[in-house]
Amino acid sequence: MVKKTLRKGLALLIIFTLIISVALVGCGTEKSSTSKSENVKQEEKTVVLKLGHVLNESSPFHKGAEEFARKVEEKSKGRLKIEIFPSAQLGNDRELAEGLQLGTVDISISGSAAVTGFVPRLQVFDLPFLFRDAEHAYKVLDGPIGDEVLKDFEAKGIVGLAFWENGFRHLTNSKRPVKIPEDVKGMKIRVMEIPIHVQFWKLLGTDPTPMAWTEVYTALQQHTVDGQENPIQTIYTQKIYEVQKYLSLTGHVYAPAVVMISKKTYEGLSSDLQKVLTEAAKETATYERNYIKDLETKALKELPKLGMEVEMNPDKEAFKAAVQPVYKDIGEKLKVKDMIEKIINTK
Ligand code: MLT
Repeated sequence: MVKKTLRKGLALLIIFTLIISVALVGCGTEKSSTSKSENVKQEEKTVVLKLGHVLNESSPFHKGAEEFARKVEEKSKGRLKIEIFPSAQLGNDRELAEGLQLGTVDISISGSAAVTGFVPRLQVFDLPFLFRDAEHAYKVLDGPIGDEVLKDFEAKGIVGLAFWENGFRHLTNSKRPVKIPEDVKGMKIRVMEIPIHVQFWKLLGTDPTPMAWTEVYTALQQHTVDGQENPIQTIYTQKIYEVQKYLSLTGHVYAPAVVMISKKTYEGLSSDLQKVLTEAAKETATYERNYIKDLETKALKELPKLGMEVEMNPDKEAFKAAVQPVYKDIGEKLKVKDMIEKIINTK
């Protein structure tokens, strides 16, 4: 009797174990098929990328970023979305680039000069009076020379997607009209934090003061510095006219902008999404450059009404002659003599 009961209990136990095992195997199958469909879902999921820049929402960087975001969303059929953070919300230019390296920022747009600490060869483009006009600059930046310099970013954990534009830089100050180099002698000029700018403003007899963009308006307002230099569109959209009386169209440097993505972010995306970003960044360059062209035409009409005195024809040849030593210096220091020659000879 006891034996019979034991046998029955054992049989029940075996049946119970079998049921549990089948159920567990079933769950396992279910789990693996769920994770497969999760993978599929992930590929279809929208990836949101954070884009930062230091200018305000009326700047061409911002308008370009909006167009870029629109194109990316369209080309990726909604799989990629870009969230834009203007006005240095994600940090100043150096902090943005460091964020790209760490992967805490996905995409950033900076004036190329602001990231020469990461890619020194970018300084070549900041040689004063290097580019004859905007078309010359586009030919160089959108061609093999531009591509070669963009590749330098990779060693720093950043992928350079495309060159956009900041524009030809012009001098403003609160002291006097500037027509010839003698007029700037002794002025304290805020410059970007890159050696080449410091060097050529010294050659012009000024006292160059390197400073991050985020501090410039206050420094001009408090007269810590007498002047600064930036493209017309920046002087207009960032309201530099409120704190500077004189604008001189020196056009001393053509400033490109660079659209960059964190290498970590980039490598985490499928190759078709990488292509979407590269194509959209390159295509948006034309939009952003045209936007600047129109904006500067408007700004030049508006700035005198806003109180600025504009010198339309400063003696550019005299300024150019005064800064020539910087060519030799940069050519030797960065080993870019050939590149400079090639740029000058690009027709
Ligand atoms: C600067 O002067 O620091 C830059 O030109 C500002 C900018 O990023 O446009």
